[in-house]
Amino acid sequence: MTPGPTPVPPEVLLAQGSPIVYHRGPGFGRVLREVTEGLQWIYQTKNDIVTFTCSGTGGMESAVVNCFSPGDRVLVVSVGNFGTRFKKICEAYGLDVKLLEYEWGKTAKAADVQAALEPGIKGVLIQHSETSTGVINDIEPIAAVVREHPALFVVDSISGVGGAPLKVDEWGIDVAIGGSQKALMGSPGIAFIAVSEAAWAAHANATLPRFYWDWTAVKKAYERPEPETPYTPAVHLYMGLAEAIGLLREEGLENAYKRHAVLSRATKAGVQALGLDLFGEDVERAVCVTAVKSPEGVDGDKLTALIRAKYGIIFAPGQDVLKGKIFRIGHVGYFERADILQALAVLELALEELGYPVKRGDAVAAAEEVFTQAG
Ligand SMILES: Cc1ncc(COP(=O)(O)O)c(C=O)c1O
Repeated sequence: MTPGPTPVPPEVLLAQGSPIVYHRGPGFGRVLREVTEGLQWIYQTKNDIVTFTCSGTGGMESAVVNCFSPGDRVLVVSVGNFGTRFKKICEAYGLDVKLLEYEWGKTAKAADVQAALEPGIKGVLIQHSETSTGVINDIEPIAAVVREHPALFVVDSISGVGGAPLKVDEWGIDVAIGGSQKALMGSPGIAFIAVSEAAWAAHANATLPRFYWDWTAVKKAYERPEPETPYTPAVHLYMGLAEAIGLLREEGLENAYKRHAVLSRATKAGVQALGLDLFGEDVERAVCVTAVKSPEGVDGDKLTALIRAKYGIIFAPGQDVLKGKIFRIGHVGYFERADILQALAVLELALEELGYPVKRGDAVAAAEEVFTQAG
């Protein structure tokens, strides 16, 4: 129950275990087209999608090197660990970063972004789902503010896309970055980026060095008669992702969002029924990850270690400044109601073992009630 990599459905594993397909020719071309068109559907966009064999961070780095030039001023909006990562990437490439930083657990506010947007800012970079704290930023009003300014809007939705709504075209997101290993139910190893016309225009003039990350190379290879990638892709991962997207198409995007929302509500009701406090602002939006404050006298790291060692379920510990203070239950991706009930049951047992007073069954019953209500 970590927020990624998340479990992979058997159909996807089977696809990944099938014979390798040569990456130049109709076999892989079909897979790449299926993946690319599927990602357009998930992102709700007509924009081009570029994909890379890499982790999500590679997708973030590709956004920076393709859109900006040395010394460009950008606004990084940070609500946690992955906001810090955006800042570090921008600084590594010599951008002039203005940081709008929130205390971890807070969500970004459109009014603050508006106030921070000064003339000359070329891009605004933010997380959709900030996995380190579980919060989900309300991207739509922030996008509306950025649209009034000639800056590119770059959104890391690596742990959000597919689990929480992200309407790239309707909201006006120039660069949306996702990863295969979270809500999409693929294995880790593919990052994908939706690129708007404005982002392509910026790319044409951007002078930061790029080679592997060059979006034009990816676009040109995709436009061959049989779509390709410029360099050898992780063929099996693409085959698996095509299968996973097929499963999402069968489920339907709205149903996938609903599944995530219901699992999130049940998890939150369960931990609260034990008297635990949720961590973070706007928790009802946090449909991908539930962050929970470690109760008085219980170290979150010890709790997650015990649950892992004794019950074989992995919760994520707190990161950085939140180490020991929170623990995180991921419900993004291939999870179902039974997973939540199991997770809450072992949480009850582990808390009890660590001396926290628990009335057995309370968490499970609260989650069951949410499921009953949800139908
Ligand atoms: C919001 C967010 N951004 C970026 C990343 C980095 O992705 P990766 O670890 O695949 O490089 C993650 C990974 O968990 C993430 O959750």
